[in-house]
Amino acid sequence: MAGDWAVELHGVRKRYGRGRTAVHALRGIDLTLRHGSYTAVMGPSGSGKSTFLQCAAGLDRPTAGAVRLGGTEITGMKENKLTALRRTRIGFVFQAFNLLPSLTVEQNVVLPMRLAGHRPDRRRAAEVLARVGLADQARRRPGQLSGGQQQRVAIARALVTRPDVVFADEPTGALDTTTASEILTLLRRSVDTQGATVVMVTHDPAAAAWADRVLFLADGEIIDHLDRDAGTHHLHGAPPARSHVDRIAARMTSLTTAPTCAGAAA
Ligand SMILES: Nc1ncnc2c1ncn2[C@@H]1O[C@H](COP(=O)(O)OP(=O)(O)OP(=O)(O)O)[C@@H](O)[C@H]1O
Ligand SMILES: [Mg+2]
Repeated sequence: MAGDWAVELHGVRKRYGRGRTAVHALRGIDLTLRHGSYTAVMGPSGSGKSTFLQCAAGLDRPTAGAVRLGGTEITGMKENKLTALRRTRIGFVFQAFNLLPSLTVEQNVVLPMRLAGHRPDRRRAAEVLARVGLADQARRRPGQLSGGQQQRVAIARALVTRPDVVFADEPTGALDTTTASEILTLLRRSVDTQGATVVMVTHDPAAAAWADRVLFLADGEIIDHLDRDAGTHHLHGAPPARSHVDRIAARMTSLTTAPTCAGAAA
């Protein structure tokens, strides 16, 4: 049933520019993601990962194909309606945290509510801040926090509206290994205990290994995937097995060394 999926992409294509200089960033993506699933997206630089995320999140419009979020068709949706949907039903986490420095932690977290024209729900803000381990930092400003703490604020902000999907583009890209695993544990826990749906772009096999499924993009197409073993799935909070990280790394290496059509044409 259509409404059962958190995210659906059907024949999604994205072309930048036209004619001889056109770039085919996505060449027909078909994908359905369940509510409560955690998906990582990997691929060489320029393979279309960010474009995929932007199109799936309604931040950019595909050239062709259809995107549904929580059962709602967003293709062709008017800009103001799409903006409203993004503010309430989608959460975003970026590599660069994207917090507003002049606002407190709490004000940053309730921002999506304010932007959507709702009253900021301070109890809900306290709840998500507690969940990311920052209950006592609500009055601070982002500049007074470490990188990992700032990213946890961004995750709290992404979760505050109980979105259908959280999209994350390299959420651990600016963090050291230890802080990165805290963030990944947090995303994993939001899926396992809150039923969140997460789609995360990463170039790091150790980060991707936390997901239920890793999708491999090459030259604008999903060419492969790798699933986490069912056996390791419910070891709550346990980091992924080393062997799984190695499998993902090996798959990535074979992607980046295999000759592609684009490479041959260049
Ligand atoms: N606004 C744009 N205008 C023109 N071409 C673009 C634009 N954005 C992306 N592209 C091109 O589309 C292709 C896919 O880019 P995209 O940013 O999705 O790659 P990526 O997989 O996220 O790469 P990276 O790992 O370097 O972030 C690339 O060839 C890129 O140059
Ligand atoms: Mg990118």
